[in-house]
Amino acid sequence: MKKYHQYDDIPLKLRTSLEEKVAQSPYRQYFHIEGDMGYINDPNGVCYFDGKYHLFYQWSPLTYSENSWFQGWYHVTSTDMISWEDAEVRIETNSPYETHGAYSGSAIEDGEVMKIFYTGNTRNEQNERIPYQIIATLDKKGELIKRFPPAIIGYPDGYTDHFRDPKIWKSKDDYYAVIGAQRKNLTGTSLLLHSQDSFSWRILGEVDIAYPCLGYMWECPNYFEIGDKGIFLFSPQGLKPEGNRYCNIYQTGYVIGNKLSKNNLQITDKQTFQEIDRGFDFYAAQVMQAQGRTILFAWMGLPEITYPTQQYAYCGCLTLPRELFLEDGKLKQRPLVEIEKYRQPLLVNVEEKTHELGFGIELSLCIRKSKHQTMIDFAANMENTAHTRLICDFEKRELILDRHLAGERVAEEYGTKRVIAEDFGDEVNLRVFLDRSSIEVFVNDGDFVASSRIFPTDYQKYLHFYQREDNIDMKVWRLEIGE
Ligand code: FRU
Repeated sequence: MKKYHQYDDIPLKLRTSLEEKVAQSPYRQYFHIEGDMGYINDPNGVCYFDGKYHLFYQWSPLTYSENSWFQGWYHVTSTDMISWEDAEVRIETNSPYETHGAYSGSAIEDGEVMKIFYTGNTRNEQNERIPYQIIATLDKKGELIKRFPPAIIGYPDGYTDHFRDPKIWKSKDDYYAVIGAQRKNLTGTSLLLHSQDSFSWRILGEVDIAYPCLGYMWECPNYFEIGDKGIFLFSPQGLKPEGNRYCNIYQTGYVIGNKLSKNNLQITDKQTFQEIDRGFDFYAAQVMQAQGRTILFAWMGLPEITYPTQQYAYCGCLTLPRELFLEDGKLKQRPLVEIEKYRQPLLVNVEEKTHELGFGIELSLCIRKSKHQTMIDFAANMENTAHTRLICDFEKRELILDRHLAGERVAEEYGTKRVIAEDFGDEVNLRVFLDRSSIEVFVNDGDFVASSRIFPTDYQKYLHFYQREDNIDMKVWRLEIGE
């Protein structure tokens, strides 16, 4: 396998041929972050620094070409978290401590610099994995300095080589981080790390959320505080489906409890893990606290799933950012107000059954209680034989997202229906973001959210009310974001 450790080493001809393949895709998104080519996954280093929002994502531009690879962090910036500008490839695998990938990590504004904490992945000649946790700084001129030797070399006794994804924060003058880990008995956990200077780190112990066993590995842990509560959000692997929960290959969810500190590693003594998103494609969320707000980004995708864009030499996109609020003992997730300034109203007559809306739109829908199920078909063809269906059932108090006729098939072995909300009252309010190849549904002011990829043809530009009753109000906007 040929390895390029810096983006500039990749021959121009190869890059151009991949770009040409990507350009043939009918599925390119209008207002979600995607890579120019190759594979993207976790959001990394989400922070506010030097007057702008910064986000990086895991990027392997060569995943779909000639068996060669490079895996680093690509950088984008924004002033409103909706419209993003490309910065450049920022973390490359150009040191001996990250030869097999500059893996996930996080960042904070720290005085004059952005401080980044991430995992360098390596494998030795026996193919054994050796992880390194690396601190880097990015200054306002864009100079990146990695600090070597790495802050943490290898992994602690009692744990395996699955030791990665540090999420850093600062509390008064102390630095903390949580990191994903796997115990020697193959159960997942997270360790709390502490540092006084951000360069030398001590392991304080395991974060206690009262589960002796919740999956075999916890990836991408996050810790943040809202009011007097500490919230721990992470992506456990290896949970079995339980009714409507945990239906995807891997999960992401949270527990709420006490604040973590040097003297307290127990968030809660009750098993209260809640899945954060009810859709088909959501993983590796990262939370940023900045400008008094708590904002979440995630990968709108999952590991080990084949997506139809791969035939066009790319795969993966991120979710829209969401603002998090702690209300009634639960995280409520709402779209950012910033998105509203990109709205261009589309006039629709809700009395009609069929609407030609196209893609790249936001809808606001209010569904009132009715005896029958209410079915709304998004991204449908004219005949309505292909669509992504929402079914609102007031009898069962369930809202279902069904993508079995949505277009090209994805991960059908994990099912094609999800119950995305339940136990609601006599009215369901929805905000739906329909991009070219995804749908995000926010239910009842952030009570539930479902994020899913869909792969409709160009002809699926209609919305149908399957059986029109007089119980629906609707507003639609085109979102004019980006180029
Ligand atoms: C989660 C993950 C992380 C890892 C990264 C590598 O999707 O597996 O644990 O750091 O992706 O790309």
